[in-house]
Amino acid sequence: MVNKNNNSRKTILSMLRNTSGAVSGQKIADKLMVSRVAVWKQIKSLQELGYHIEGTPSGYYLNEQMDHLFSWEFEKEKENYHIYRELNSTMEIAREKAEENCDGFTTIVAEKQSSGKGRGNRTWLSNEGGLYFTMILRPELPSAYYYIYTLGATAVLSEIINRDFNIPVSAKWPNDILYKDLKICGILNEMHISGDSIKWLNLGVGINVNNSPPLESGTSFKAISGLDYDRRNLLFTFEEQYKKLLRENLPEQIRQKWKTGNYTINRKIHLKTSLGQSFSGIAEDIDATGALLIKNKQNKIKQALFGDIYLKQ
Ligand code: BTN
Repeated sequence: MVNKNNNSRKTILSMLRNTSGAVSGQKIADKLMVSRVAVWKQIKSLQELGYHIEGTPSGYYLNEQMDHLFSWEFEKEKENYHIYRELNSTMEIAREKAEENCDGFTTIVAEKQSSGKGRGNRTWLSNEGGLYFTMILRPELPSAYYYIYTLGATAVLSEIINRDFNIPVSAKWPNDILYKDLKICGILNEMHISGDSIKWLNLGVGINVNNSPPLESGTSFKAISGLDYDRRNLLFTFEEQYKKLLRENLPEQIRQKWKTGNYTINRKIHLKTSLGQSFSGIAEDIDATGALLIKNKQNKIKQALFGDIYLKQ
């Protein structure tokens, strides 16, 4: 069902964008077949949503300062996207929706998060201009394959960022994407497992796009090139390509795909886990459980199921 309010917003924005000069309230009212007061209410709600619309005696102007992620901004309205100006964390709403049995690929997006979550109980700083979303998945694979969903997402996103945005990035085990040694994207997953099956798996993705990188160890698309990018295009393409990947590939093929664009294998690394363990060695491979295999100086292979890795020179 297409929302009537959203259709009106789409029409108003398109009139403002396609007119050089001001658009009168009467012109908009005629087009929408509503009163001028109704137009004014719509304009006010758009302003509240962050659109810089200026009202002057001759009409309204739009001062476009950034891309917006609202559903009416997508060419084909995306009813599976729930878009918020600000949330604590998209993971919270996603968990509620997943428990309420929403459809797979329902996606919660926030322009900003006040308590964005990272892996290992870290904070994910989420200032305006980044892309922050949680995609609710209804996995078909048995729970032992849960890691395929994050490896697959990292592989698809790296490919899109390289190919469509011309930024050379690579995947770092387990769920990061880097530009040179700087983090540009992180993925966090939460899931509900029941027996061998996964009831839901929420894929939380944070990408530094048009924002300034919140940490020195990170970067953003804009920090690299000085340009602004269309986050809708990135989100939409990701959804499309990720669905395709899951539909058309077996877990082993997805694992191989991750390996082709990764930054980890064959490098000297140091791994630290949240249990206080640490290992150094060469990252040899990822095995069929998604674990990282690290070869130490004695040529012994250690299997790391989780942890953070640091590159050694
Ligand atoms: C990490 O690298 O530590 C994972 C970061 C994941 C951040 C994303 S932003 C959207 C979603 N909501 C959150 O609170 N976290 C994830």
